[in-house]
Amino acid sequence: MSFLLKTPAEYQEAYRQSILHPEAFWENIANAYTWRKPWNDVLSWDFHNPNISWFEGATLNITENCLDRHIEQLGNQPALIWEPNDPKEQSRQFTYSELLEEVNRMANILLALGVKTGDRVCIYLPMIPELSFAVLACARIGAIHSVVFAGFSAQSLADRITDAQAEWVITADGQYRGAKQIPLKAIVDEALEISTGVKAVVVVNRLNWPLHLKPGRDYAYADLIKNVTNFCEPVERSSEDILFILYTSGSTGKPKGVVHTCGGYMVYAGYTFANVFQCDAPGKIFWCTADIGWITGHSYLLYGALLQGATTVMFEGIPTWPDAGRFWQIIDKHRVEIFYTAPTAIRSLMAQGIDPVLSYSLHTLKILGSVGEPINVEAWQWYHAHIGKGKCPIVDTWWQTETGGIMISTIAGVTEAPPATAGHPLPGIQPVLLDAMGTEITEDTGEGNLAIRFPWPGMLRGTYGDPERFRLSYFATYPGYYFTGDGARREPGGLYRILGRVDDVINVSGHRLGTAEIENAINLCPGVIESAVVGFPHEIKGQGIYAFVVLDNSIPEMELIYDQIMEGVASGIGRMAKPDKIQLVTGLPKTRSGKIMRRILRKIAEGEINNLGDISTLLDPNLVGEIIEGRI
Ligand code: WT7
Repeated sequence: MSFLLKTPAEYQEAYRQSILHPEAFWENIANAYTWRKPWNDVLSWDFHNPNISWFEGATLNITENCLDRHIEQLGNQPALIWEPNDPKEQSRQFTYSELLEEVNRMANILLALGVKTGDRVCIYLPMIPELSFAVLACARIGAIHSVVFAGFSAQSLADRITDAQAEWVITADGQYRGAKQIPLKAIVDEALEISTGVKAVVVVNRLNWPLHLKPGRDYAYADLIKNVTNFCEPVERSSEDILFILYTSGSTGKPKGVVHTCGGYMVYAGYTFANVFQCDAPGKIFWCTADIGWITGHSYLLYGALLQGATTVMFEGIPTWPDAGRFWQIIDKHRVEIFYTAPTAIRSLMAQGIDPVLSYSLHTLKILGSVGEPINVEAWQWYHAHIGKGKCPIVDTWWQTETGGIMISTIAGVTEAPPATAGHPLPGIQPVLLDAMGTEITEDTGEGNLAIRFPWPGMLRGTYGDPERFRLSYFATYPGYYFTGDGARREPGGLYRILGRVDDVINVSGHRLGTAEIENAINLCPGVIESAVVGFPHEIKGQGIYAFVVLDNSIPEMELIYDQIMEGVASGIGRMAKPDKIQLVTGLPKTRSGKIMRRILRKIAEGEINNLGDISTLLDPNLVGEIIEGRI
């Protein structure tokens, strides 16, 4: 692979070239992939009336790049290793040839149901092989996949189906999560009472539960697969056709459908996977613990790893069941070389002590990765010493659903950064720090809001069905820049340390949630007048959810209100959004114009009560004392 950076000097030279001649730089990388037609234009862009296009005029199919082009050389090499929830159940392996056949079968099922190029297919599945087949099958036939993480509630699922106008759903009877069995099809049924445009539902059997199939709408995957062949021609797609939509939270209550397109996303996922994880030789065993319902699962578990001919491990279960050694046991069992996980997982396993780690050798590991939130120094050191045995480089990869792939990170074993510092921008990425006025901080070191001033192939192309929201969310705060929503510090040597979100987005155990979404769910509970949600530092989750809630006088049994709020959030969003703390207050601190002063609530939730800043502009400054008093 010609584009692999092997030394710090090669990284620096690639970076220099990527800034001086971005089009030539990316064109050279794109040439490593298979295209049906070449591009006319490498890049055209505008960050004011945002419009970005890469490799215009070119056509391709990403699955041809992930699967078909590898068959001759790697046909018999494992592409996907699936490890079930229960260690007593057999794992399943698929070679590149077998994976291609499974994808083709699923693609033929979708075609037989009537799915057409450009149709939206909502995928609501647990981490089972069929989830991978489904995603790639959509890509193969040119349908747009919208994967919804299986922890989201019926209401959230319905909102996403409606927003994408998805006419097709792929789900399962239910899912295993540790010792629990959780229904999925029943949740889909509930969602389809709310969102009514769905033509067909394909149901995969996972739990052997009785399938309640609605005639004319629901189909058992096991029946459909009997009637299809394992050959399906990949559909030729334009570089800028939509590959997928993935919903993520923003500052407002409504999740936005981040749109990624075929050509640029492929080039960026493949390039960053190969370089950051130094995955040069095919057959390296890569395990990303993220669910495919998040961007990390899309870009690295699936597309990135397959584009580069790696063997990707997919795990159905959770890190702590049957015991806290499950991750380490899987690493030994499948001889994992590259392991990519989230700080929250590391912290929760660290809390279980070292014994579960010591039962395993972990000697196959060569590279470790971290993603999703800032990794604290203590977790970094534990990961480095006990999992990497002091010999594996750790890549702390900063990126977002919107960026499509890793943006700021060291390159494993090639470039370095101290713990908790993500590192340098990857080639092609031009980060800037902006002060409150939107002026670039040009000093070598400094702190500000992190923005990007030049397009990269993996960037989002829109928010589905809402171009104005696309502009407002990312390009309006600082005209001429893509604004990330994160704060960052530039340290000596040009290394970036990510400081966390500066908007109303919180990151709970790697789940990105908008405070407004949670408030909306709480406000729907009977008896609630209003609420304000903020994040606070949480030892395991990174951030916890702190809800300040104002009630009316109608509540007969006060104890019940806590359960009702929990239930309201679980059914409005999903169980991962349940508040850690609920404080009942008589009012919220507001400015005279009625705006909630979240800054103050954040400080109170963080316990920084001596440093509240100016509260003189509040409508009722006395309220603050009362809220501090009742702090949990
Ligand atoms: C937000 C994006 C990128 C895939 C998973 C999350 C935070 C992500 C890091 C990191 C510090 C990080 C940022 C970002 N974040 N990676 N290595 N260090 N913060 O994707 O759900 O779109 O969330 O996650 O705050 O904006 P996402």
